[in-house]
Amino acid sequence: MVQATPFLLVLFLALGAHGLAVKKCSLPGRWVNDLGSNMTITSMNANGIFTGSYHTAVTATSNEIKQSPLQGSMQKSPNQKGQPTFGFTVNWSFSDTITVFTGQCFVDEYGKEVLKTMWLLRSHVENIKNDWKATRVGTNVFTRLQSQE
Ligand code: BTN
Repeated sequence: MVQATPFLLVLFLALGAHGLAVKKCSLPGRWVNDLGSNMTITSMNANGIFTGSYHTAVTATSNEIKQSPLQGSMQKSPNQKGQPTFGFTVNWSFSDTITVFTGQCFVDEYGKEVLKTMWLLRSHVENIKNDWKATRVGTNVFTRLQSQE
């Protein structure tokens, strides 16, 4: 028992240090994407349900761009190992379209958080014959906006 104690102490410290060294990717906060759109994820509950707001830099319409609400969900499984998958919907307040994003929150080789996403933008069409042209698809990469302290 006396000999085991230092060994266990070293093991505990090593595991603890390892735990500290592995940076996790966290969704709450302010993000900017490759188009210059800004997104804020404000609240996240214990089940991984989150809300926020989205200010797109571009639009497929001629309408004035306005900040729009988003609602999403993050996968909470321990298998996600600090780089969780997620999805969210933006219900555009200035347009009758809707966008769903899905992606994963990564920590890159420099320790920087990055959200790699794909999206589907659905437009309303007048009839089923026009369904074929109603959905756009694309990708966006988000990086965290640093807070000005
Ligand atoms: C619209 O034009 O009907 C609403 C705005 C759509 C903006 C799209 S959503 C996917 C892509 N990523 C962005 O940040 N903005 C565009």
